[in-house]
Amino acid sequence: MLRVERLSKSFGGVQAARDVSIDFPAGSLTAIIGPNGAGKTTFFNLISSHLRPDSGRVVFDGADIVGLSSLEVVRRGMARAFQVAALFPSLTVRESLSAAVTSRRRRSWRVLTRFPFRDLDARVDELLALLGLAAKAAVPSHQLSHGDQKLLDIGLALAMDPKVLLLDEPTAGMGPDERWRMIGRVQHLWQATGMTVLFIEHDMDIVFKIAQRVHVLKYGAVLAQGTPEEIRRNPDVIDAYLGTDHRAPA
Ligand SMILES: Nc1ncnc2c1ncn2[C@@H]1O[C@H](COP(=O)(O)OP(=O)(O)O)[C@@H](O)[C@H]1O
Ligand SMILES: [Mg+2]
Repeated sequence: MLRVERLSKSFGGVQAARDVSIDFPAGSLTAIIGPNGAGKTTFFNLISSHLRPDSGRVVFDGADIVGLSSLEVVRRGMARAFQVAALFPSLTVRESLSAAVTSRRRRSWRVLTRFPFRDLDARVDELLALLGLAAKAAVPSHQLSHGDQKLLDIGLALAMDPKVLLLDEPTAGMGPDERWRMIGRVQHLWQATGMTVLFIEHDMDIVFKIAQRVHVLKYGAVLAQGTPEEIRRNPDVIDAYLGTDHRAPA
């Protein structure tokens, strides 16, 4: 579904991506982890065409998308959440989702969107149910809790009918309860839609609990990749990043 090959990007003297090659199979749920400044957000900027790589390829759904505009990449089915600027504070949750679905339908010149014949309200109801926000449909988005605003932000991305969804630290700034609620929701919508989901996450308990595969970045390079179990045991990862707390029991 999505494959990056030898992706590199420098900002002046800082090499934020070094020869990164990763394959994301269709329908997978994958975590990207690594210390602050490791290049995780840059990696998302590169694959979503918000930044152009210095070298390397991003193959999405069979085509190299390097050089395409980020809007074109969204149109082809890669959406990204947590661009909170996309929220319209005075609109209700329902109005925000309706606006996003409408803009998607205007922008898309594909006849075969996934929901071609159903009307707008039905699609919005479906999104509300998927997000668990049906009871808050009439609430202005600026009155939502932090967690619900982030869910709505995911909803705006889902309104684009993505095949691939990118989540940059979906649980940032949340307390433990809200965090697990968010991650349960992410897992639910991944299972319900069959999308390919990539998420950046700091909380190792969350990563090890839900990810199918984990890729560890350090200084812009892939330090390790594997299943959560492999990553948990990887001595490089333990030394570089996890500390002894996460060492697997002998
Ligand atoms: N637009 C930019 N201009 C200059 N330097 C940047 C830019 N974006 C990121 N960087 C630098 O690239 C490195 C990786 O940053 P980032 O991808 O945000 O890391 P992470 O998300 O893993 O914390 C950091 O050293 C950061 O300062
Ligand atoms: Mg980041």
